[in-house]
Amino acid sequence: MSTAVLETENLVKVYGRGPAQFHALKGLTFEIHRGESVAIVGKSGSGKSTLMHLLALLDQPTSGVVALGGRPVSRLKPKAVSSLRNDTFGFVFQQFFLNPNQTVLDNVTLPLKIAGVGKSERNQRGIAALEQLEMADKAKNKATDLSGGQKQRACIARALINNPDVIFADEPTGNLDSATSETVEDILFTLHQEQGITLVVVTHDEDLAAKCQRRLMMQDGLIVEEQTGATPRPAQASAVSDRQQPENQTRRGRRLPFRRGGAK
Ligand SMILES: Nc1ncnc2c1ncn2[C@@H]1O[C@H](COP(=O)(O)OP(=O)(O)OP(=O)(O)O)[C@@H](O)[C@H]1O
Ligand SMILES: [Mg+2]
Repeated sequence: MSTAVLETENLVKVYGRGPAQFHALKGLTFEIHRGESVAIVGKSGSGKSTLMHLLALLDQPTSGVVALGGRPVSRLKPKAVSSLRNDTFGFVFQQFFLNPNQTVLDNVTLPLKIAGVGKSERNQRGIAALEQLEMADKAKNKATDLSGGQKQRACIARALINNPDVIFADEPTGNLDSATSETVEDILFTLHQEQGITLVVVTHDEDLAAKCQRRLMMQDGLIVEEQTGATPRPAQASAVSDRQQPENQTRRGRRLPFRRGGAK
């Protein structure tokens, strides 16, 4: 039996029409296995978020297949896709901001509300999720009162609330200082390791990408390289040497040119 939680076949996304057409994804075929951590990396505009949106069933491909648990999603009715998405996935996306005027608890429990869970259970599970992220004391605060790192932790709490199989994170540490980034990274990887949650992360952060078991390198709408093996952070943050990281090989058997600070 396949262990793939998500599979794509010849995935194509074209934005716009006529002369304004833009081929953002040019035919991607790959699998993401259950319990895996995968980083999607590449320069700005290479198609990372577009791919993430298709995998997360937030957008539809122009052509090609996305299959969840072996089932092509295009065969499902829109309502089934919505409930699948709400039940199976958690999102840590910068564009899915918290509602600033709602309390942290209401923000975090929104996926449960969508799923039709009653208020007292919602709140109980919301507090439990916030406790995991040491944010329970902020439950009644307006989301707008939180610091950047606290907002990101609230987003993770919201992503966790439905016990998702997969967490999608698009630049989860993008606007955070290094100490807060490290906290957010640790939380995501602890969830991945302890709860077996599949992690799909778009990032320009080399350290975060290096922690993932697999890295898909995108360029101009294509996956141009794939690198496997977590690459533990070197003691001195520096270029990874052959001697330090013997497992850090690409499928083509050569090292990938990760640059510190991302490709933006
Ligand atoms: N709705 C849209 N209409 C037209 N073009 C789009 C649309 N969304 C994205 N694009 C284009 O598709 C390409 C890929 O965009 P995408 O957002 O996937 O890039 P990205 O790799 O996530 O970049 P970044 O690192 O800057 O977030 C870009 O050239 C972008 O301008
Ligand atoms: Mg993006």
